[in-house]
Amino acid sequence: MAARILDGTAAAQAIRAELAPRVRAFTERAGRTPRLGIVLAGHDPGSEIYVRNKLKTAGEAGIVAELVRIPEEAPVEEVLAAVAALNARRDADGILVQSPLPEAMGADAETRVLDAIDPAKDVDGFTPANVGRLVQNRPGLVACTPAGIMELLSREQVAIQGARAVVIGRSDIVGKPMALLLLHRHATVTICHSRTRDLPAVARTADILVAAIGRPGFVTPEFVKPGAVVVDVGINSVSDEALVRRLLPPDSPRLAAFAKRGSLTVGDVHPSVSEVAGALTPVPGGVGPLTIAMLLANTVAAAEARLRA
Ligand code: GUN
Repeated sequence: MAARILDGTAAAQAIRAELAPRVRAFTERAGRTPRLGIVLAGHDPGSEIYVRNKLKTAGEAGIVAELVRIPEEAPVEEVLAAVAALNARRDADGILVQSPLPEAMGADAETRVLDAIDPAKDVDGFTPANVGRLVQNRPGLVACTPAGIMELLSREQVAIQGARAVVIGRSDIVGKPMALLLLHRHATVTICHSRTRDLPAVARTADILVAAIGRPGFVTPEFVKPGAVVVDVGINSVSDEALVRRLLPPDSPRLAAFAKRGSLTVGDVHPSVSEVAGALTPVPGGVGPLTIAMLLANTVAAAEARLRA
């Protein structure tokens, strides 16, 4: 039997609908709309798409999102200056610096930028202060993708307490915060990565399996315990036709889209997992929309907290 589909688009829509009265109340009390400053350095094609989506969705939610562009060849100091300006602005509630930064800005650019962002405006939840609060299970701004996954699991009434959860991927923006959020909800959590021995066997212990490795179709049915809830965080753009054919069933309607566009977005989970899992997030339409909904939720929460402060 095919897995139940966990509809991220619907959950994201519900989250945004719940934000609407809060945005209205804030706007009335503060005499201005919540405001998000997005800093984009360079022209990474993926970032251009993410940022365009963030600007559009924020606007639809009654949040003013302002884009600050920094040239590809600029020094990291220009990004730091843009962050300092947003930190100082009383009408800026949220700050987001899109990753990745141009390589020429140096290996430590991302850390320097994160260290500069006011934690009260850190709507990505990436600053050391907010990560520390998450580790200690204290209130703070939490990274949007894992926070969105928790919202989805909770809205879909997935039991977390006492469950075995396996997170594949140990990134700062998904794997680590995901593991902590599941731990705080009393799951027994294992984090796996590229050097984990016998990864499929470890993954097969999971009641809740989160795949966040950025490798198309990596998680196959041998990774999945029958009935498990599988969350696919992958957003991989694939243009190799042989790979696309391996990742999609021969009758998939998405093959026509690939023929037209020459590329396709696929997840980290192979579609055949649907025959083993109890529930599965699709790509697209699973985790992706939740990330942006939680960015808006974090922006509204930051705006409300700043009004109270
Ligand atoms: N690049 C890819 N994902 C993200 C994200 O969630 N936030 C930021 N700032 N950059 C990203």
